[in-house]
Amino acid sequence: MSATTVVAGAILSDDGRILLAQRAYPPELAGLWELPGGKVEPGETLADALVRELCEELNVRVEVGDRLAVAVTLESGLELIALRATIVDGTPTAAEHRMIEWVDAERLRALDQAGAVVPNDREWLPEILADLLER
Ligand code: CDP
Repeated sequence: MSATTVVAGAILSDDGRILLAQRAYPPELAGLWELPGGKVEPGETLADALVRELCEELNVRVEVGDRLAVAVTLESGLELIALRATIVDGTPTAAEHRMIEWVDAERLRALDQAGAVVPNDREWLPEILADLLER
């Protein structure tokens, strides 16, 4: 993986919800909701990086599944990839975010319509909504 990849977790529950995290910074993104994650470090696989980041950010251990089909490339050159994941140990807490919330499809649509989703992450919403609605 290149140093310019960011991996995010589409953490799904078995009752049709996804875990969103509300950013605390920078000012232009603070208050907006995202899939938690972070930069892949040299030598890490995407899955390794996601397990590490979600441990640091949410204090949970996850099992990583397959990736969402859409990859988002930013003007800065960063590439964002999302992997499905499930929590196998721990209860998520907001260690680095303002707060976290398990949202169902209806709440996710409402957050999006209110402009409360990080713009990059909006690319993943069709796939996520399909996942949530088939559970
Ligand atoms: O925490 P920090 O802003 O340093 O960065 P990061 O979490 O490692 O993410 C790096 C970049 O990816 C930032 O520009 C984030 O805004 C972006 N990102 C995103 O657009 N969507 C996510 N779900 C996660 C990160």
